[in-house]
Amino acid sequence: MPDALLAEFHVLREEFSRFMFAYKFGMDEVTTKVSILQQEFKHLQKYNPIEHVASRLKTAESVLDKIARKQCEPRFEEIRAKITDIAGVRVTCSFTSDVYLISDALTRQDDLTVLQRKDYVAEPKPNGYRSLHLIVEVPVFLSSGVVDVPVEIQIRTVAMDFWASLEHKIFYKYSGDVPPHIARSLQEAATTAARLDDEMESLHHDVHGALPPVPVEMANGSIPIPDAVLARFAQQRVTFAPLI
Ligand code: GTP
Ligand code: MG
Repeated sequence: MPDALLAEFHVLREEFSRFMFAYKFGMDEVTTKVSILQQEFKHLQKYNPIEHVASRLKTAESVLDKIARKQCEPRFEEIRAKITDIAGVRVTCSFTSDVYLISDALTRQDDLTVLQRKDYVAEPKPNGYRSLHLIVEVPVFLSSGVVDVPVEIQIRTVAMDFWASLEHKIFYKYSGDVPPHIARSLQEAATTAARLDDEMESLHHDVHGALPPVPVEMANGSIPIPDAVLARFAQQRVTFAPLI
């Protein structure tokens, strides 16, 4: 390979690596936000709406495939604008109302810009798929400046996740060409999963009452701690140990 071409290749590889790292950082920012909410809910509100959180970065190969599929110009700015699922975070919640609770708690954060919201919970896809999808833009502060990185967030219940995971496997088995009777069964299974969500939410409501609302305003530290409380802390040598 001629030297000039080799040098160009190295520059491009470095640029691509820099480009992908920004997505990893964006994904980490969103994951941290979800983790903070999870800990806050669990320890301060004594209720945990999140069952688990997963994140994934598209592989370079998968990004290149999508560039070709979307007929996207191979320029970084164009890729950033058109391919918004390079970084993905999936939040699996307990109940359907938790899906909206988490979505609201995230989207009200000032540093997140919602680029797109698709509510497949309210309006499931024809095949039965349900989930709440958000594409958010999060600022990532690098030594060279700030980059706004899009991150796809999928929020769903355990039942929605169960259905989507298995449907994905079946879909791949048939490489996209699912026989009509299988497609019908999948759709029926999605209806069953949705009914299960409704029943579990209703049971939870009967046992525990309405889910706690997200506090509109957090105590900002300006509330004075009464002397009597301080004295008790001192007496009992209470320390503010980390919550985790
Ligand atoms: P992609 O180009 O595939 O990313 O889809 P899109 O741009 O039309 O966006 P959409 O919000 O519909 O889907 C984004 C992602 O949601 C997919 O990459 C999947 O992870 C998930 N998803 C969407 N539809 C389905 C479905 O029918 N089944 C399963 N299992 N997952 C789905
Ligand atoms: Mg995708």
